[in-house]
Amino acid sequence: MATVRLERITRQFQNVTAVEDITFEVPGGEFWVLVGPSGCGKSTILRTIAGLERATSGHLYIGETCIDGVPARQRDVAMVFQNYALYPHMTVKENLSFGLRMRRTDPKTICERIDRAATALDIAHLLDRKPKQLSGGQQQRVALGRAIVRQPRAFLLDEPLSNLDAQLREETRAQLKELHQQLRITTIYVTHDQVEAMTLADRIVILDGGRIQQIGTPLELYDRPVNRMVATFLGSPPTNLFYATYDGVQFDLEGQKLPAFPLDDSSTNALQSFQQAGRGIEFGIRPEDVELADTERGQIQVEVSIVEPLGRETLVRAAIPSRSAKTPPILNFLTSPAVRLTPGERVWVRFPSDRLLAFDPQTGKVIENFGSKTPPLRLSSGQAF
Ligand SMILES: Nc1ncnc2c1ncn2[C@@H]1O[C@H](COP(=O)(O)OP(=O)(O)OP(=O)(O)O)[C@@H](O)[C@H]1O
Ligand SMILES: [Mg+2]
Repeated sequence: MATVRLERITRQFQNVTAVEDITFEVPGGEFWVLVGPSGCGKSTILRTIAGLERATSGHLYIGETCIDGVPARQRDVAMVFQNYALYPHMTVKENLSFGLRMRRTDPKTICERIDRAATALDIAHLLDRKPKQLSGGQQQRVALGRAIVRQPRAFLLDEPLSNLDAQLREETRAQLKELHQQLRITTIYVTHDQVEAMTLADRIVILDGGRIQQIGTPLELYDRPVNRMVATFLGSPPTNLFYATYDGVQFDLEGQKLPAFPLDDSSTNALQSFQQAGRGIEFGIRPEDVELADTERGQIQVEVSIVEPLGRETLVRAAIPSRSAKTPPILNFLTSPAVRLTPGERVWVRFPSDRLLAFDPQTGKVIENFGSKTPPLRLSSGQAF
């Protein structure tokens, strides 16, 4: 179980800085996920660790060894790409064993490792087939198996499930997680799918524009995002954002008044400085944290536009009536399926102050502990999702 450490890695292509100042350390045996929008630098980081890309500056370590100048072949890491290529003329078994045979591993060990990987990935019945006799999902699992049997010091997986349909993706994701629990090989997994990141990761590294935004357990990132990007990237539908002004007493949200709530000193200072600069504040709230309320307890009124029953809950899309904006801000929230709402109906909602996130509208940075003195974590920090 080797640690993988990146120290201030930057990669430039001519005038494009693909990744900048990337530092993190994956402890041996952990499963980390790099996530972020297309072009944020995920593959560049992975390819740099694999030795397929050279860092412009910075250092890389596996265990205690610096591997900056070590060729890809000698790094003892296995990488699986989105566009894997199996050897078409070999059977599944031959594909799985190829790397081990090249390394002159003894046949008994090869058999044992293939048995174990094939059972875990549910491809044991396919060992004598050729790749073209397999479905896309089966081929993908063989590609994963081929990396697994090598038992490398680290696995680097770049969107390995993206060719699969939704159901297969979920199944393979679960198999991968189970396999990791058995083998405990340090894994770095790249995806742009936030659900995959949340469900697989011990820790998530969230990237945007080639830079790390935040590192943490899935729930830490979900509950305590450091900025607007993290808050809106994780979770579906995403965190609602809306802009409000503050007059020193209460907030004004498109002409509706949101009463102020107790704030700690640093939040009060932040608000005052925005006010002095003639700026408002950006609020964020997750759809599951918005509460339907009666007239008395309600804070703002919204107009229901779309009702989407999801089974266990209902997703309501509502407009915040606006005097100024051409298209009114939209508020998504979840209700119990027992609540029947119809498009056009006006309802009251409230935002529990301890669930409300507040951002500096200019920088997008979160104002810490806004509206609550205790951090809004649902589980203790450090606990995996
Ligand atoms: N060989 C290259 N030459 C020039 N620019 C490159 C090269 N490889 C990557 N880039 C640029 O670096 C940035 C990061 O690319 P990268 O492939 O790492 O993104 P990614 O996060 O993996 O995206 P995706 O989710 O689309 O796979 C992009 O702006 C990309 O255009
Ligand atoms: Mg990529």
